[in-house]
Amino acid sequence: MGGQIIHIACDHGGFKLKESLIIFLSGEGYDVNDLGTYSEESVDYPVFGKKAAEAVLSDGNPAIIICGTGIGISIAANRHKGIRAALCHCPEYARLTRQHNDANILSLGGRFTPENEAKKIVKAFLATGFEGGRHKNRIEMLDN
Ligand code: RB5
Repeated sequence: MGGQIIHIACDHGGFKLKESLIIFLSGEGYDVNDLGTYSEESVDYPVFGKKAAEAVLSDGNPAIIICGTGIGISIAANRHKGIRAALCHCPEYARLTRQHNDANILSLGGRFTPENEAKKIVKAFLATGFEGGRHKNRIEMLDN
């Protein structure tokens, strides 16, 4: 039996971190859906932000997206209604964006976030639930 599905996508700036997070997540029992890119050859981050957004919207499972800064790919993903992609630099951001924003995509900067810190951020993101309450109306306002 497989674990929870996590989609993951990156551009060339996020490739190395994506590869190490796939190993990490698989070791933690997650079933990782790797949407590419598959090498360090230069590609366009909007393509991969879109792939991740479409995957999340199709099955409701979360995604991790990575580009050099995490900025471009999160902008791309956030163009999709229903997507709340959050660029996180520390575990506390990841906890808060799950609790308050019900973020369904975690964005990381592959050229700025060390691997060990990225693992802590991912763990916090996946372990934290949405608080609901006053935050529910606010996230509903994003799509209306
Ligand atoms: C690619 O060089 C770089 O621009 C991209 O990975 C990302 O940082 C864009 O926001």
